[in-house]
Amino acid sequence: MKKYRFDENADVAEDIRSKYGFDGELLDLFAGNKGVVVHKWHHYIPIYERYFAQFRDRPVRFLEIGVNKGGSLQMWRRYFGEAATLYGIDINPECAQFDGQAGQVRIGSQADPEFLNGVVDEMGGIDLVLDDGSHRMPHVRASFEVLYPRLETGGVYMIEDLHTAYYPKFGGGYRSRDNFFVFARELVDDMHQWYHNKGLRHEAYGGHVSGLHIHDSIAVIDKQPVHRPVHSRVGE
Ligand SMILES: C[S@@+](CC[C@H](N)C(=O)[O-])C[C@H]1O[C@@H](n2cnc3c(N)ncnc32)[C@H](O)[C@@H]1O
Repeated sequence: MKKYRFDENADVAEDIRSKYGFDGELLDLFAGNKGVVVHKWHHYIPIYERYFAQFRDRPVRFLEIGVNKGGSLQMWRRYFGEAATLYGIDINPECAQFDGQAGQVRIGSQADPEFLNGVVDEMGGIDLVLDDGSHRMPHVRASFEVLYPRLETGGVYMIEDLHTAYYPKFGGGYRSRDNFFVFARELVDDMHQWYHNKGLRHEAYGGHVSGLHIHDSIAVIDKQPVHRPVHSRVGE
């Protein structure tokens, strides 16, 4: 990963501003962070803004998978505001020290359905997920399979660092069946169930995906009511 590391003496904010034309508050929260380390790829910042801004200053229930040093939960608290319910989960018991600071922290694996369901129960439901956990293909899938069905209508499920879908040591690979983007393609097929006769690949959630957005290393899966499409000819 060193080959992608930005020059530590250069201006992070200016890099994001000039390359991506982004100058929102999240830029200051990230690039101006003087607290605990937050480690993010530069191009993620405008992508977060694009999908998360609608939840700011609202009682959003947000779960981040992967707490690490607790820096990102602090950033999200500043970004979403005091009305948000923020939870972070991590497999590392040392992360328990951050519980009750910017949000609640629970210790367990993102691949453990019972643990995940317990956390969502405690949160009183869930609107927004950011998977920044192990980035291993089976873990990413396991979390999605439990959490996406529990996502509130209007919710957003974001997975980051999906370059690992191409790395065998993360369970992925360019031609691997387990590459997350193969699964994403299946969700696309399910979105278009009306136009083929193969049925839903993923009965439990395939019929609820209203939008799927792929960016470099990020997948965003929307959840909105899905209706059988119709069209009209309107006018003279
Ligand atoms: C990239 S770090 C998270 C960074 C943090 N979100 C940030 O932006 O500063 C990934 C974290 O995922 C945790 N992790 C690894 N495997 C996990 C698993 N199976 N379940 C939950 N968390 C896991 C690691 O302990 C690590 O703290």
